Amino acid sequence: MTSGSTPRTGLSGRILSGIKPTGDLHLGNYLGALRNWVAMQKGYECLFCVVDLHAITVWQEPKELLRATREVAAGMIASGVDPASSTLFVQSHVPAHAQLAWVFNCVARLGWLNRMTQFKDKAGKNREAASAGLYVYPNLMAADILVYKATHVPVGEDQKQHVELTRDIAQKFNNDFGVNVFPLPEPVIEGAGMRIMSLRDGSRKMSKSEPSEFACIYLTDTADGISQKIKRATTDPNPLPDSVAGLEGRAEAANLLNIYAALTDCTLEQAVAEHAGSQFSQFKVRLTDTAVAVLGPINAEMKRLMDDPAEIDLILKRGADKATAIAAPVLAEVYKAVGFLPAS
Ligand code: TYM
Repeated sequence: MTSGSTPRTGLSGRILSGIKPTGDLHLGNYLGALRNWVAMQKGYECLFCVVDLHAITVWQEPKELLRATREVAAGMIASGVDPASSTLFVQSHVPAHAQLAWVFNCVARLGWLNRMTQFKDKAGKNREAASAGLYVYPNLMAADILVYKATHVPVGEDQKQHVELTRDIAQKFNNDFGVNVFPLPEPVIEGAGMRIMSLRDGSRKMSKSEPSEFACIYLTDTADGISQKIKRATTDPNPLPDSVAGLEGRAEAANLLNIYAALTDCTLEQAVAEHAGSQFSQFKVRLTDTAVAVLGPINAEMKRLMDDPAEIDLILKRGADKATAIAAPVLAEVYKAVGFLPAS
């Protein structure tokens, strides 16, 4: 598959992906997920959701969750998700996700969940204090995908293990009940943006939970904010290398070049060739200009959309109706396969 925002043609299948409303959208979400979603709208039937049920697996302030849910929806639209051609909705508006997740809680094995690295990272040392929801989170994610029989799941690299588990759950469900209800969905993890690291520490993923406020660029950052963060990004004393091999052991340089490549929709090799021998100071100016040129209009459009919450809510309501129309018959098929007595 092609990378970045290159249009796709002649492809068939159904896409499902989601983002948690646990704070502001950041550059990792944009380059690892949103940009690819937008490109995939050209070749696939797409469903994109704001996964609020996933958000509450760790504590969320209710008012902030409400605000962030609308803002993530606004960020998706501002990034180029087209609600007229794609289905954009909030996960909790379509009860079939939670209903299918319960069935999957009974299909997935504890041994499978015990291997999930994200649970280990998020629960940390105090596993006993983690919510039960955090533990069964991957089953809900499998339900998000399979309740639409999605065939492709565009995500950043950190979600690969979850999509693999989704395939295992689909396979086990089909085998256990002797049916062929679910396809085995493919993760789509591609382009230079699939793994964006912290600007302060090239060995850590860029995320909202980074301790330094300079580690993460948000889609809501001003041009000045973006510039400050890039200026303070950790570097090393050497000029940029003239080959990708020269990035070995230079995690921060590799990360900044990857960000540049993803923002300009080129390969890492091309980005390295363009900046070979540059000092970080020169390169950072180019990177800042590029980031501001890409993110500035998104930021402005998000603000415009957030000024009209009723419009966002209407888009999300229409999306939920469309999503429900696809999910309800799949859930009915599952319930029948399991042997539940029909409700009417
Ligand atoms: P979330 O909300 O943490 O992240 C949303 C998307 O952004 C990608 N991403 C990154 N990509 C590159 N570099 C980074 N530093 C980075 N940080 C985040 C994530 O890979 C993801 O694609 N479990 C999911 C949400 C989810 C979902 C789903 C995804 C729930 N149900 C069904 C796909 C299909 C999550 O926590 O993503």
